[in-house]
Amino acid sequence: MIKTGNMRRVSWSLMVCFCFWQGANAAQPAPPVSYGVDADTFHPVKDRHGMVASVDAMATQVGVDILKQGGNAVDAAVAVGFALAVTHPQAGNIGGGGFMLLRTASGRTTSIDFREMAPVKASRNMFLDAQGNADSKLSLTSHLASGTPGTVAGFALAAQKYGTLPLSRLLQPAIELARNGIVVNDSLADDLKTYGTEVLVNHPNSKAIFFKADGTPYQKGERLVQRNLAHSLTLIAKEGPDAFYKGAIADDIAGEMAQHGGLISKADLAAYRAVERQPISGSYRGYEVFSMPPPSSGGIHIVQILNILENFDLAKMGFGSADAIQVMAEAEKYAYADRSEYLGDPEFVKVPWQALTSKAYAKTLANQIDVAKARPSAEIKPGNLAPYESNQTTHFSVVDKDGNAVAVTYTLNTNFGSGIVAGNSGILLNNQMDDFSAKPGTPNVYGLVGGEANAVQPYKRPLSSMSPTIIAKDGKTWLVTGSPGGSRIITTVLQMVVNSIDFGMNVAEATNAPRFHHQWLPDQLRVEKGFSPDTLRLLESKGQHVKVQPAMGSTQSIMIGPDGMLYGASDPRSVDDLTAGY
Ligand code: GLY
Repeated sequence: MIKTGNMRRVSWSLMVCFCFWQGANAAQPAPPVSYGVDADTFHPVKDRHGMVASVDAMATQVGVDILKQGGNAVDAAVAVGFALAVTHPQAGNIGGGGFMLLRTASGRTTSIDFREMAPVKASRNMFLDAQGNADSKLSLTSHLASGTPGTVAGFALAAQKYGTLPLSRLLQPAIELARNGIVVNDSLADDLKTYGTEVLVNHPNSKAIFFKADGTPYQKGERLVQRNLAHSLTLIAKEGPDAFYKGAIADDIAGEMAQHGGLISKADLAAYRAVERQPISGSYRGYEVFSMPPPSSGGIHIVQILNILENFDLAKMGFGSADAIQVMAEAEKYAYADRSEYLGDPEFVKVPWQALTSKAYAKTLANQIDVAKARPSAEIKPGNLAPYESNQTTHFSVVDKDGNAVAVTYTLNTNFGSGIVAGNSGILLNNQMDDFSAKPGTPNVYGLVGGEANAVQPYKRPLSSMSPTIIAKDGKTWLVTGSPGGSRIITTVLQMVVNSIDFGMNVAEATNAPRFHHQWLPDQLRVEKGFSPDTLRLLESKGQHVKVQPAMGSTQSIMIGPDGMLYGASDPRSVDDLTAGY
């Protein structure tokens, strides 16, 4: 159980930046303004006793209710996770998987890996066509696309080991939302219209749930009832996770697979285990950084990039300056090149995490970065580690009255996963098998290139970028954050950390600030709208290939102030998200 304790106090070591992002006053020291005064450009939600930030207002409310009823942060997170499976079926799920990072009020940090697992019949070339080319239809929208789901096992493990309320109680709000129906919001209506008509409509079980009798998807303001999902959730509440992995739901999933050429069997489901893992930890300018270990690449590369950035004075360069973006983009290229070579499921490959997260290795990479001139990605190869060896995922953050903090990122992979609902279960299945490298060197749906370490193997977990992250200062939790965004998760979370620490932004400002991303291949600096054209021109002149593209990520973050006050911010890039506290 999470120990209750005194409300945490965090030293507020940074002043809040007074300037706008365009970098106007960036090189000057931030003026000494206090938190949340009118001088700030964006204001966080502020509350004292507990807070939840999620992509969906109904799910956030479920979490706040659990906190008010005396549940701790893990209880609330599990209830939010189940609720999102009903209210945000684009990514919320019980047919997918993900990662939970938690830090107790007493400072113990741990993580739960509930990533999907390849079925035992999975094989290395299962996503290649007759010509030997990767076929993304197979890995994204066929019955082969799904890995054995981990969400139910992960939430059950978290609740049993770190929660205080019975699992059945944490499932109750989700059951009611599914049974009584939800009023479809903008976000769901929009995604049903676009992604739904591409994937869900092709499968009768899915169409029957998300489309009306006239063949059109549910629209904003209409009530969506998910009776079969309510039944499945009720079975889990009554029988525990065995209902999913061994009972009637397992029958539905295995039956669906057997009928349509999928691989997940009852034996695969019975063999699934959520795994508690030691988080990746590092330090950045005096802060402690905790994030997700493999099979996510998130923690390793966030720490690696922060280690590289420590060699540069980003605060002096200023937020949004061409120099700061240049340095960060170059650091990102090196990290993503290493990702392609070294990262995979730690049960199958030896991931050189110590080398990748070592300050000494970061120094060698930092030495290769030229603030004036971008290095073409073609010249960057995964590093030699030997000398150092020793929009469619969702994230939510919860902090309770005692200072326990939970960060969860989970997903079906792309919107609505494979689009396939298993039999009569009402459960959408993931298409996470696409996160394996179907063919070394061929990019997946996020353009990520992988190698041998992430090849498909039975019982292996595909490499992820999900990065639930917690930053601590002086031993006390300071920032809880995470984001969806596929390959862009790592750089989105990175920018939350750098904006907060280097640029002294409050949590709402750090969230609202425009973002950029480089993932080595393709050799392209992706930027959101909002950076000054002058800056973009400067970056081009340094050799960056700048491309303005749609918004990235949807961070859901909570910061703990010096007096224990909670400050939260949902991302303006999502339309129906909510941070609320009490
Ligand atoms: N499915 C996206 C990720 O795990 O990174």
